[in-house]
Amino acid sequence: MITHQQQFSINDLRSEIVGIDTIVPLLDGSSRPYIFLDNAASTPTFRTVMKCVEEFLPWYSGVHRGTGFKSLVATEVFDRAHEICGEFVGADPDTNCVILGKNTTECVNKLSNRFGFQTDDVVITTVMEHHSNDLPWRKNAKVIHVGITADGHLDLVALKAAIRQHRGKLKLVAVNGASNITGIVSPIHEIAGWVHDAGARIFVDAAQLAPHREIDVLPDDHPHHIDFIAYSGHKMYAPFGTGVLIGPKKFFEEGVPDMVGGGVVDVVSLESVAWNDPPHKEEAGSPNVVGGVAVAEAIRILENVGMDAIAEHELRLLEYAYGRIRTIDGIQLYGPTDNLAEKVGVVTFNIEGMHNSLVAAIIGTEAGIGVRNGCFCAHPYVKQLLNVSPEEDRKFTAEVLAGNKSNMPGMVRASFGCYNNEDDVDALLEILERIARKEFNGRYVQDTCSGAFHAEGYEIPFHKYFSFIDANRPVKKRMYSEAS
Ligand SMILES: Cc1ncc(COP(=O)(O)O)c(C=O)c1O
Repeated sequence: MITHQQQFSINDLRSEIVGIDTIVPLLDGSSRPYIFLDNAASTPTFRTVMKCVEEFLPWYSGVHRGTGFKSLVATEVFDRAHEICGEFVGADPDTNCVILGKNTTECVNKLSNRFGFQTDDVVITTVMEHHSNDLPWRKNAKVIHVGITADGHLDLVALKAAIRQHRGKLKLVAVNGASNITGIVSPIHEIAGWVHDAGARIFVDAAQLAPHREIDVLPDDHPHHIDFIAYSGHKMYAPFGTGVLIGPKKFFEEGVPDMVGGGVVDVVSLESVAWNDPPHKEEAGSPNVVGGVAVAEAIRILENVGMDAIAEHELRLLEYAYGRIRTIDGIQLYGPTDNLAEKVGVVTFNIEGMHNSLVAAIIGTEAGIGVRNGCFCAHPYVKQLLNVSPEEDRKFTAEVLAGNKSNMPGMVRASFGCYNNEDDVDALLEILERIARKEFNGRYVQDTCSGAFHAEGYEIPFHKYFSFIDANRPVKKRMYSEAS
């Protein structure tokens, strides 16, 4: 566990990464240390977080209702973990509660279920959102989607107008802190001001913001205060299954929890139930204590390094990457490419004439670099950035419904964490330059169902990499449709 005397610098973070030197096989039979550029999906673990979990496990015990010594220690640690998660975003502990759930998705669903929307209540969200900050609202309320400008930014003029137009019925505006597609950082405090003027509240999906920028929700009575916020431990070097939801205690004190069972009550008879205070009321069942400890320790490390130092480092990486990537023949970049300080470390692109999935497969198989491709759980935003027409969209949707994802539009995404360095970026640019020159080696075939490409002859002996995979386990069937 990080001690009070310990001081981390940004340069220490690479050696903090569990698995930073893991060797992976390449298509040509050689091998290399894996380069991970898919941090926007999920980050690796900080070594100090892993050690903290190890240190905690001998004390692990069910929390809150145990009377044994270990239970008392574990409860104190878990309660402190809640506080650390709230302090991380400057939430006032007297008026706000910190609820620990599974991930951001679960947190947004909980908030949506807890709002108790009436038939005409309006939630404004945006076309830029991850599905996790869109579908939970669609499920329970009338949702208005505000669009984007030609360069992929949130259309702030349209957002302001929509907030004004729906005043009265408007209950909530739900926006991301940073986009998982373009990395664009939203002006959340400015938006909060408009939302509060209209008598509504704001929720910020900070899944992509929290690992990269300092967040301050501001005092509750500040006009630009953020009412509700959520983020995920697995995107900030603590992949142990914890998401954080913060909001006013008063809000969660009212009404019935969205999930009920053990832990959420003060007293139950066959006729009546009296709910516990939040956060207990909102953390049904035995909580993920280890996950809570892990995310709190990750926060302590990020804070020790300093979020400004992290932002500065990631900006330098972005500038370095964009400096070269735009010179690659046939590269198509999405989102802002010049004012990079307004985005977190995400680079999304396509290579002319090549399927996004093919490019991602080559990067993985021939360079040992982990990236991601497709629509990244933000289909509307990706399709708009790709200028997919409504007719094309209907055609792709029909094909997918018929079990064929081979033509689904998409992009390739490389996303940086605070530990990535210029060597990682160089390795990516090198393989991209090779791909653009069509100098890749494999013969790739596409699986129609998933749309994924696969290099012929490249089968991974999974049993060699993890002990409980049986060597005789049948190889997954793929439906090959085309070669390239
Ligand atoms: C912007 C954004 N919001 C929400 C989520 C969902 O987070 P989780 O998978 O932790 O539920 C993601 C995940 O990628 C995301 O990028």
